[in-house]
Amino acid sequence: MTAPLPLDGIENFWADQAAQHGQDAAASWSDVRVMDLEFQELLGHIHDGDRVLDVGCANGFTTLRLAAERQVDIRALDYIPGMIDSARTALERAKTLLRGTVEFDVGNLLELNEPNDAYDRVLVIRVLINLATWENQQVGLQHLARTVRPGGTLLLSEATTQGWNSLNAFRSEWGLPAISMPAFNLYLDQDAVVDSLAPELELVEVRNFASTYYVGTRVLKPLAAMAARSGIDVPDPGMHWNRFFASLPACGDYGTQKLMIFRKRA
Ligand SMILES: C[S@@+](CC[C@H](N)C(=O)[O-])C[C@H]1O[C@@H](n2cnc3c(N)ncnc32)[C@H](O)[C@@H]1O
Repeated sequence: MTAPLPLDGIENFWADQAAQHGQDAAASWSDVRVMDLEFQELLGHIHDGDRVLDVGCANGFTTLRLAAERQVDIRALDYIPGMIDSARTALERAKTLLRGTVEFDVGNLLELNEPNDAYDRVLVIRVLINLATWENQQVGLQHLARTVRPGGTLLLSEATTQGWNSLNAFRSEWGLPAISMPAFNLYLDQDAVVDSLAPELELVEVRNFASTYYVGTRVLKPLAAMAARSGIDVPDPGMHWNRFFASLPACGDYGTQKLMIFRKRA
């Protein structure tokens, strides 16, 4: 396994992503199909009238999709100024299409300066995994927990070691090597997250929304490519193969990416 990058290396990685991809979804992730599954899953947990905090919003691609679907007031933060510049440009273009309001600002999760008990929904989409250590991740979790209003929800869509390990175990049965964790990530131990939040928030549900898609694209697709000796670009999310597996219902616990839903105790 490659050694994880330190915090400043991770920040440089995201600054490069912002400069390279501008307003494109690729600033956040290349696998736009998982992003879409993630978005559809999140939509079910966000309602008209909600005050939403979206931490680590990148260029606002997902934030603006949410505000187009729901009449919500969203405050969205990212610590990379280039991401926020792109997000504000995208907001100007999308304004007439939105049902809700959005404001973008520069802000660091590790120094989160938002009021306590202020938001109905706090959204964190693939951000805690960028904090380099479990100690930093705990600091981030405590900041997030205090900003949720009692009875409100914290929505964490993050990569977990549990999902990653079960996917790699599936691959191993078929002679495929383990997928390694990117150097800029530290996946979350789901149980440790639940324990860390327990004094303030209870776990409502874990949604393995991408499990079928991961099996289809990270196990079956490389095997089919080898059997067919086709030389296809296996990670390419634009293929019909990926579209098909993204259209199937999710089953099993083989997705690295999951949505954890927590409710703040009254
Ligand atoms: C994988 S992208 C996720 C983007 C977005 N949430 C989405 O739904 O597509 C991770 C984002 O988290 C941001 N990020 C990482 N660490 C952060 C921190 N400490 N504070 C604020 N943003 C952070 C990065 O700049 C990057 O834009």
